[in-house]
Amino acid sequence: MTTPAPAHEPHKAKTVRPIRFLSLDERKRNLTAAHFNVFNLTPQQISFDMVSYGAGAMSQEQLAGQLIGDEAYAGARNFENMSGAITRVLGHTYVCPTHNTLGSVKLLLHAFASSGQRLPSNARGRIDLHAPRGIELVDVRDHAEAVFTGNFDLAALEAAIGASRPPFVGAQAFADGQHPISLGNLRAARALADRHGLRLVLDVSRVVENAWYIQRFEPGMADRSIAELVKLTAKSAHVIMMDGAQDARANTGGFLATDNPADHERFINDIVVFEGLHTYGGMAGRTMEVIARGLDEMCDESTVQWAMAQTERFTARLREAGVPIERGCDGAYVQADRFLPQATQHPAHALACALYLSAGVRALVPGLVGRDHLLPLQIPRLAMSNRQLDQVADAVIALHAQRERIPALTLEMDGQWHDALRFGSVLADLAPFAFDCEPWLVHTLEPIAITTREQRERAIREAGWNTFLLRSADVTIDLLTDSGTTAMSSVQWAAYDAAVPTPATSSAYLEFAAAIRDTYGYQYVLPTHQGRAAEQILSEVMIRPGQIVPGNMYFTTTKVHQEYAGGVFADVIVDEAHDPTSTFRWKGNIDLAKLDALVREHGAAQIAYISFELSVNMAGGQPVSMDNLREVYAWSRQHGIAVMFDATRAVENAYLIQKHDLRYRSTHVKDILREIMLYGDGATVSGKKDYLINIGGLLTFKDNAAWAHAAEAKLRIYEGGVRDGGLPAADLAAMAQGVREMVDDRYIRARVEQAVRLAGWLKDAGVPVVEPTGSHAVFVDARRFLPHVDQDEYPAQRLAGEIYVETGVRPMERGNVSKGRDRDGNNYRPALELVRLTLSRRVYSDDHLRAVADGIIRLWQRRNQISGLRFVYEPRDLRFFQGRFEPLPAASVAQPAGVAATGQR
Ligand code: F0G
Repeated sequence: MTTPAPAHEPHKAKTVRPIRFLSLDERKRNLTAAHFNVFNLTPQQISFDMVSYGAGAMSQEQLAGQLIGDEAYAGARNFENMSGAITRVLGHTYVCPTHNTLGSVKLLLHAFASSGQRLPSNARGRIDLHAPRGIELVDVRDHAEAVFTGNFDLAALEAAIGASRPPFVGAQAFADGQHPISLGNLRAARALADRHGLRLVLDVSRVVENAWYIQRFEPGMADRSIAELVKLTAKSAHVIMMDGAQDARANTGGFLATDNPADHERFINDIVVFEGLHTYGGMAGRTMEVIARGLDEMCDESTVQWAMAQTERFTARLREAGVPIERGCDGAYVQADRFLPQATQHPAHALACALYLSAGVRALVPGLVGRDHLLPLQIPRLAMSNRQLDQVADAVIALHAQRERIPALTLEMDGQWHDALRFGSVLADLAPFAFDCEPWLVHTLEPIAITTREQRERAIREAGWNTFLLRSADVTIDLLTDSGTTAMSSVQWAAYDAAVPTPATSSAYLEFAAAIRDTYGYQYVLPTHQGRAAEQILSEVMIRPGQIVPGNMYFTTTKVHQEYAGGVFADVIVDEAHDPTSTFRWKGNIDLAKLDALVREHGAAQIAYISFELSVNMAGGQPVSMDNLREVYAWSRQHGIAVMFDATRAVENAYLIQKHDLRYRSTHVKDILREIMLYGDGATVSGKKDYLINIGGLLTFKDNAAWAHAAEAKLRIYEGGVRDGGLPAADLAAMAQGVREMVDDRYIRARVEQAVRLAGWLKDAGVPVVEPTGSHAVFVDARRFLPHVDQDEYPAQRLAGEIYVETGVRPMERGNVSKGRDRDGNNYRPALELVRLTLSRRVYSDDHLRAVADGIIRLWQRRNQISGLRFVYEPRDLRFFQGRFEPLPAASVAQPAGVAATGQR
């Protein structure tokens, strides 16, 4: 039953932890202040902290559990939940909670051992815990075994037992993070222990990785599930102990468990002395709840396969580049003495310093001095993407190439433990490694649906071939929209949590208003619940019935509100925008000649305002150039016409100016945005995009008090208070923080460049996409994809549904269905007939998107078999949201590709 390595994470990011990339100078200062011991660095000084312990991403269910801690001193429900999970997953009945592994070891030794005894074990790292207690660890690991390097040498174990009766036999699953043990060997050790009347005590903190090894490499085990193997492993010991901060992905906590009530009795009699009470053991109730949920989740087959495939990939990349490593269950353990033969003492520390200095990556030297010279580069569980891991590996490889430049350290303060050492050194002249990856880690994750083709065929039928009507539970990768689908950051959540609610003026509003004024330079800040609410108010305030509203292409909700207010929309975007094959860089630009013509025909007084969208959504996320912004504004001043931005994706537009306008190469996105906003008089914003939030919007005016007051009057009627627009203070606080995060140059580059990569994969395979790639989405050109389907048979709508059926990916139609019908009831048949693959912010990895591309490429190869659709239900307004369709008979597919396209009306 071994599942093949998954193509992408079986989850997506729910919340993220922003990471910083410090300058070389900052790193030099930090390293010196840390006495050349990276233990002293804090995460804020580090880009990638390569430790797995307690640093993994929790699931959203674990996070939810954290909030329902029953903090009772005795008999907490969380303890019952945790005990239940332990029995279910690991098979042992009696549970003794402890604050972490050290707590478990303390109870174990107090119950069974005494100083001077010798403890046979397959784990080296245990020396750290036992030696200081006067218990000598006897290495009985089978050093000749090639695959299960954590196996006991049974003869050595027998001899050790014979030589001096040990307190128990100590075993570790995936000993020291590097040495897996086979089930067969573990059972043999158990039998041996039984023969001698000894307990086998097994540390199952890394039992999942060990189970994966068994599944993969132990003869006869390939058909067993991870869950089964985990239980079999745990059940082969008399007593198990587990650290909650490893496989269960909590940040602390642990427990002992056994089927022997007498042993349990001894543990819980000691627990009140050392740890707490037998129903919490030195853990907060919330920690027990997190562990309970983590235990239930940790055996999820596809998650385990994904995590282990990541480790394989990471270690293989290093090994192939000649970096001396040992493969661990959670990363690569660098052999520092071979990496740095010139460093005679403390090579692991010298290497750790060099890695931090050159790349901002931390690898921690653990435990007691003198045990070995390994520097573990562990992967925090499920928190990093392969793109990030590849780059961390490349940073190590780059360092390896200049290893002779790494200076030695001189010991300035000695100690028994690595964390206590202090060194002096020089700051090496190393070429710094430049990361170009997403500047965040996964903080919590959300599992995604894994469906079969049959399930998807049924789902699309039930949804009337409208991807808006699919259930999220049936969607694997959701590319419907980037609206409100953001993974918020932990900083935003902290602000959300801290916000104090009030129907009057909240400090969250003041923060938000200050952030907007700082970012846009606009004075009046009116929050709304989302963008369309701001559009309604703006339209009602600014449009007199019969007035023209020129705009650079329409957006669905914007145009509807302009029309409801009595305005007449006039498209003044440059012609190139309507041509999906044109590679003109600034397809969002306004054509000034079209504006001039409108004024000549109707007079300036008949123009309500210029509706100026940035990163024009319906054109394919196409940017406006700074020159065009400047020219349109100058023109508008001459004619006394206001410019109102739809600044929904203004940051993305700013980034594309930074990228493609040489004059702005070294200007920060924040400053470019500020200049953009100079060329307007107000803006509506759907905060659900740029602002990195799940709900919220904005109406803002630069300096016109009369408009602002008229808008406020409407805000009170339609939305909520003037200082909240219907949003709770918590959402305002998250939005304020999002406004600060959105202008981070690295973040916005990572976001937009992900779209560029997705488009590149599609284009390489010949799939027709809108050029150039926009900022928030990749737009597939359905006319060229399905040239045999007439536009009134809605090719983009059909293609969107087909992409879902093929891949579980949910896209959105942006074509004839979205545009609607004219006054005569005819479809508008817009020039752009597109399927939008929209990228949520900070949610999906490159591996997700590679799978998206692969699925669409498969569809491209059999495109001739795809027919069109007809409406079975068609609403009057914004029909794309609720409309239902059915496929046309396959007969209409008869023409060969390309012929029908010329016959369009
Ligand atoms: N303006 C633009 C350019 C938009 O893309 C959207 C929404 C809105 C206004 C309306 O804002 O949804 O907050 O009320 N676009 C989403 C999309 C729905 O998927 O493109 P809202």
